Amino acid sequence: MRVARSFSELRTLLPPSRTVRTWLVPTMGALHDGHGALIDRAKSEGEFVAVSIFVNPLQFGPGEDLDRYPRTEAEDLDFLEGRGTDLVFLPSAGEIVPPGGQVTVSAGPAGKLYCGVSRPGHFDGVLTIVLKLFHLFSPEGAIFGEKDRQQLFLIQTMVRDLNLSVRVLGHPTVREPDGLALSSRNRYLSPEERKQAALFPSLLERTATRWSELAGRDPEERLALRDDLSRSLEGAGFRVDYVTIADRQTFLPVTGPEIPPQAFLLAAVFLGKTRLIDNRELSSGV
Ligand code: PAF
Repeated sequence: MRVARSFSELRTLLPPSRTVRTWLVPTMGALHDGHGALIDRAKSEGEFVAVSIFVNPLQFGPGEDLDRYPRTEAEDLDFLEGRGTDLVFLPSAGEIVPPGGQVTVSAGPAGKLYCGVSRPGHFDGVLTIVLKLFHLFSPEGAIFGEKDRQQLFLIQTMVRDLNLSVRVLGHPTVREPDGLALSSRNRYLSPEERKQAALFPSLLERTATRWSELAGRDPEERLALRDDLSRSLEGAGFRVDYVTIADRQTFLPVTGPEIPPQAFLLAAVFLGKTRLIDNRELSSGV
């Protein structure tokens, strides 16, 4: 496995982009089997798999967990080697986010919804770093997890709006046996919180099932499931950041009376100080 720590090392270690189909998996490290699934997917799509590890300060707000975000470089390198990664890029903050840098990407209106309400500027920071990575790697494609639905939607929107020639694919969320989505932040949970956290995906699942069962019924009755879910989550000890139903095409909140054929149920909750996000596809809306 090749390891690049600077732009100049990356340039010498990357294969020529026109001859080898490079696929990129951008990460912030603290790798787990969810990332492993993204790497396996990248291997099935391309010939050369590159992974970047960078805890991007641009996507953390004041008072968020930038300082305590887990940094596990030695374990990550072993993990990537074991998964058959061809190249890992570990840029220094000073090079990829130069001091005094002024130009950034704006995620637009959809970046100000949902996670963008409680994390202002978060998606601008994500898109800025992802655009830089796309520019540095010129990959044929890149893989992102579907757990971060809004992030995936906004990266796909950036690719479309800025005419980038990168294929962006989402990959299904990998879950623990009790349903909790794998996340680097799960390690913040105490053993008690970890047990309780499993209620989050199961309540989302219950709502998605109920949504399908209510197909064809009064839109208000279906949309009331959103408030029911919020109440159930609060009752189960979570502090709800948001629960929403978003149109799959536009990502705008579904408010009725029209119900789009495909939508996402999106939610973020706090358990103690840990913020968890998850989502479900909602189908058979008529
Ligand atoms: O999903 C993440 O880990 C990050 O938001 C990403 C895409 C690597 C950008 O820093």
